[in-house]
Amino acid sequence: MPREIDVSVVNLTKQFGSLTAVNNVSFDVPKGSFFSILGPSASGKTTVLRMIAGFEAPSSGDIFIGGKRMNDVPANKRPCNLVFQRLALFPMMNVIDNVTFGLRRRGGISKSDMVKMAQDVLDRVDLKGLNQRKISQLSGGQQQRVALARSLVLDPTVLLLDEPLSALDLKLRQDMKLELKRLQARMGTTFMYITHDQTIALAMSDTIAVINFGKLEQVASPDELYRRPATHFVASFVGENNQWNNGRVVKLVDDNTCQVDFGGLLSVARAGEKLAVGDNIDLFIRPEMILLQPGRKDSGIVGKIKEINFDGAHSLVVVDLVDSKVPLTINVKLQHTEQTPEVAVNDIVTLSWGQAAANAFHHVAPIADKKEA
Ligand SMILES: Nc1ncnc2c1ncn2[C@@H]1O[C@H](COP(=O)(O)OP(=O)(O)OP(=O)(O)O)[C@@H](O)[C@H]1O
Ligand SMILES: [Mg+2]
Repeated sequence: MPREIDVSVVNLTKQFGSLTAVNNVSFDVPKGSFFSILGPSASGKTTVLRMIAGFEAPSSGDIFIGGKRMNDVPANKRPCNLVFQRLALFPMMNVIDNVTFGLRRRGGISKSDMVKMAQDVLDRVDLKGLNQRKISQLSGGQQQRVALARSLVLDPTVLLLDEPLSALDLKLRQDMKLELKRLQARMGTTFMYITHDQTIALAMSDTIAVINFGKLEQVASPDELYRRPATHFVASFVGENNQWNNGRVVKLVDDNTCQVDFGGLLSVARAGEKLAVGDNIDLFIRPEMILLQPGRKDSGIVGKIKEINFDGAHSLVVVDLVDSKVPLTINVKLQHTEQTPEVAVNDIVTLSWGQAAANAFHHVAPIADKKEA
């Protein structure tokens, strides 16, 4: 059965003067899902969300919520709520008054019903017994939950969240990230979450839309984005990477696999797009998917350990490759298990990886180079 769609954006474009902040973006958000828009700063994320919420009119394209076209519906009549990065709570009001604020504005509900509804949502976000506390007397994480409760009490079709975790410190952000995901699953409300932080998007989302310079790069599950990035940008932006520029395709193994050459070193690679022999490519190699063996082996790439950064669960091992004609360095992320070899700086090691660890795309000049050209 096809899943019901809660939000649909079709060829959405926003022009600010000569700047195209959002460029012909289309996607569907399934009902009850956690959908993230991930992109670097100024890529157009907030602008997309503000158009869905009705605070910004599209230059062209359509927005549907719950199957209804929203373009001409004013913000306060749309079945969605926006939670801002700076929460925008009333600091001198207590928790219950903050949470019932939207209900009071909506009107037509008795005071006791409003309190009951607010209490119900506050319970669900694990904020009991704090009703009379002023916002200024709550921790950052508690304030976050009040902001969520204030929106959820209005029972929106979709909750729009504009980086609400970015104001928190790292530890709290980690905790809230899991809590937010659990809360969303429990409530079943559709969440649209925007962030520039891939660790947040990967951990929480059912689906992620990656956006860059206003353009949609890929819409996929976190797993799919990580394993099969569709573009050079997604490969460079999602997950950890070693990026080697300006290699050559020397052989096509099959539709998805090729062999690439960097200064005489050969690597197998997943062809992220259609490639031909002789093409100039960039290679993205996942540090955690590289096999490291002590000593020089018959097959694999030989290197000398330059640096080891130990962090308990892992070591990040920086290896200089000794057999290439161009200087090449690679980071290897070793997970510590009983089998993990003990290695030291200056040790000779052999590295190997499979097709799934290395994604090849046509070379893209870094932005600094483009400006010079
Ligand atoms: N009202 C506006 N007038 C003119 N330009 C704008 C306006 N709002 C946004 N922009 C520009 O549009 C582009 C996209 O902005 P947007 O706020 O959507 O980015 P973002 O992806 O949310 O970035 P961040 O991660 O930094 O919040 C930016 O270049 C921004 O300067
Ligand atoms: Mg923004």
